[in-house]
Amino acid sequence: MSENLDLEKLQKYALNTWLFKQGEMVSLMIHLGYRLGLYRAMDGQGMISAKELSEVSGCHERWILEWLRCNAAAGLIKTSDGVSFELEAEGAAVLSKADEPTYAAAVFANIKPIEVIDGIAEAFKTGIGLSYDGQGEGSEHAVEAMCGPMSKALLVSQVLPLLDGVANKMKKGAKVLDVGCGTGLAIELLAEAFPESFFVGYDPSSRAIEAAKQRFSEFENVELFNLGAEEIPDSGDVDFAMTLDCLHDMPRPDLALKAIWGALKKDGTLLVKEIKSSAVWDDNLRNPVLALMYATSITTCLSSAMSDKDTLGLGTLGLNPDLLSEMTREAGFTSFQQHKVDDPTNLYYEVRP
Ligand SMILES: C[S@@+](CC[C@H](N)C(=O)[O-])C[C@H]1O[C@@H](n2cnc3c(N)ncnc32)[C@H](O)[C@@H]1O
Repeated sequence: MSENLDLEKLQKYALNTWLFKQGEMVSLMIHLGYRLGLYRAMDGQGMISAKELSEVSGCHERWILEWLRCNAAAGLIKTSDGVSFELEAEGAAVLSKADEPTYAAAVFANIKPIEVIDGIAEAFKTGIGLSYDGQGEGSEHAVEAMCGPMSKALLVSQVLPLLDGVANKMKKGAKVLDVGCGTGLAIELLAEAFPESFFVGYDPSSRAIEAAKQRFSEFENVELFNLGAEEIPDSGDVDFAMTLDCLHDMPRPDLALKAIWGALKKDGTLLVKEIKSSAVWDDNLRNPVLALMYATSITTCLSSAMSDKDTLGLGTLGLNPDLLSEMTREAGFTSFQQHKVDDPTNLYYEVRP
């Protein structure tokens, strides 16, 4: 070993590196717990042994014991003896209860197939990333697992009332455009709350649109287009448009904003939900999961944002408030307001033509 090395620093560095490997392996255990229904089986049971959990879950006791001990070692469940274990209420809100805004277990359902990882490595050479459809089967559901809990908790009850006049228009019957609608969760939430309104969704991912079509097979007030935002016609008849967590994924968000401007009525409203980010590195360091965000950018957001030639290539943290404000102004919008919403990850903007 080189004599110049600071041993203490080296040990800390090596441990920090191995903790990421531990995170990868524990993620796989969360995936298994989600897939086999183990967290749900533990929820509300108090202390439970491997034998009891194996009986309710139908899984082999010895495998369950190892899984329980791994989860306890990771601090995800409680034990005092390595024999009985408890998923406490806070753990259940993150790993078992799908209706909680804090629910995260489903995010671990998606494991990147090797061909997607190969594709990302290739993108480092060519500069051209993978669109959402190239990111592996089921990745559209992983997106919903990531963005869905907060949308369910906030969109109708907290965000919409902040937008001047929008809820009233939607009660009477408005034309609503969801740009980058993914699998359609936001449309579903709004269509349930405002059945008089008509909803149009655009997304270039054919898998996401296919899932949305299945979701709305019984709805008569939803129309879906397997097209990117740039293709939206300048109809000038839309009352309310939204881009939820997707402008930074688009190769040309500037062109998307121009198209949305053309589709909106002159008194229409655009809601933009974007990842909390800043042009200043030190501000971003306040984000406790910043490395996760950049890794997600490489595998997902930047990859999509660079899935074409001549892109802006923004990525997960690339669309900060100043840049968005400038981009909306250049697209023709004259009013830009940021709203306060209790969401640790996203910022919300009301933008008007
Ligand atoms: C993180 S997902 C968000 C989906 C949905 N809005 C939500 O909140 O769950 C980003 C979406 O942007 C879509 N997207 C990527 N490029 C786009 C483009 N040029 N026009 C419209 N949507 C685009 C992707 O296909 C993907 O469905």
